[in-house]
Amino acid sequence: MDAAAFFRENLLAWHAGHQRPMPWKGERDPYKVWLSEVILQQTRVEQGLPYYERFVVAYPTVRHLAEAPEDDVFKNWEGLGYYSRARNLHAAARYIASDLGGVFPDTYAGIRALQGVGDYTAAAVAAFAFGLPYAVLDGNVYRVLARFFGIETPTNSPAAKREFSALAQRLLDSARPGAYNQAIMDFGAGQCTPKQPACATCPLAAHCVAARSGSVARLPVKARAAPKQSRFFAYAVFYHGDTVWVRPRTGNDIWQNLYEFPLLELPEPPGDTAALPGLLLSRFFPNGAPPGTALRGISKPYRQTLSHRVVTAVFCEFDFPENFKVADFQQNNLSGFQQIEQFKLKKILAVPRIVAWFWEGKTVTFGDI
Ligand code: ADE
Ligand code: SF4
Repeated sequence: MDAAAFFRENLLAWHAGHQRPMPWKGERDPYKVWLSEVILQQTRVEQGLPYYERFVVAYPTVRHLAEAPEDDVFKNWEGLGYYSRARNLHAAARYIASDLGGVFPDTYAGIRALQGVGDYTAAAVAAFAFGLPYAVLDGNVYRVLARFFGIETPTNSPAAKREFSALAQRLLDSARPGAYNQAIMDFGAGQCTPKQPACATCPLAAHCVAARSGSVARLPVKARAAPKQSRFFAYAVFYHGDTVWVRPRTGNDIWQNLYEFPLLELPEPPGDTAALPGLLLSRFFPNGAPPGTALRGISKPYRQTLSHRVVTAVFCEFDFPENFKVADFQQNNLSGFQQIEQFKLKKILAVPRIVAWFWEGKTVTFGDI
């Protein structure tokens, strides 16, 4: 018997002897399966159980849920947290009621397209409700597979999802996908637990790579999250009357096409922000700033945390003199920038969040200037 068959058969045999009753087990109504899986997305079984019971009584069908006022759905969800789940649940129910004639989708793609349904929930509903051959992949499954097969790929690495889901799919008992998925979830929750798994009584131990090589405590491998890269921006906010200079950000990043001020990126945090106005003027006016240019102020540092980096920005505001010539400006290192009326920024032209914070902080004082 190959490892896959050994795993599959012993897992299902283990499950037969370790039944843990839950109200949604064996449930074939896709609406109820979906409801239970959404509740369990970020919630422990014991905590989610009373909510499931309450929801199926309050909203016995997807139409009942669709027709319920949003406030009622939120009220019933109160205490579970992650309220976007309740909003998505309600929106998906309305979509099913209005666009699908109240009939729950019965294909993986149809289920996956529902608001708030990811790969895991789509596979669970497809398998439990419709017997479709889709293997679930959640934290339990990553752990069990990493240990049994001795997989060293960090489970939070970009490559992991493809590798583990291909393996999970190959292991699936496609004649009984619902039973298999429930078995691996329960096995991860009850036998091959994160801490102190019960290897001594495990029916998979004979072929478990981690148990045989003493690497149970080390697997699954989690890569330490890369430290966020820090970037430091000094923005020059050049005013002339009621105008300001901006341009849409080029380059292929998340801020592409958002409007921003002339920017100088610094290799390291400025020790003293008082030095920034001089740096900005010499960067953008290498031959000297227009005579009469006045520094209005230097902002406090603003900080925006993104998925891979932390951006710190300081905004230096300058006023150009009345007699300032736009042509002078454009002859310097500022071609490509447009002079726009200040009210358009953020109201009409989208800006990065960090720019919006600075700009919103100012708007209260606009009328007073
Ligand atoms: N967690 C998420 N779905 C589950 C299920 N069907 N049974 C047990 N735990 C779960
Ligand atoms: Fe998990 Fe231990 Fe069983 Fe291996 S032997 S599958 S590590 S419980």
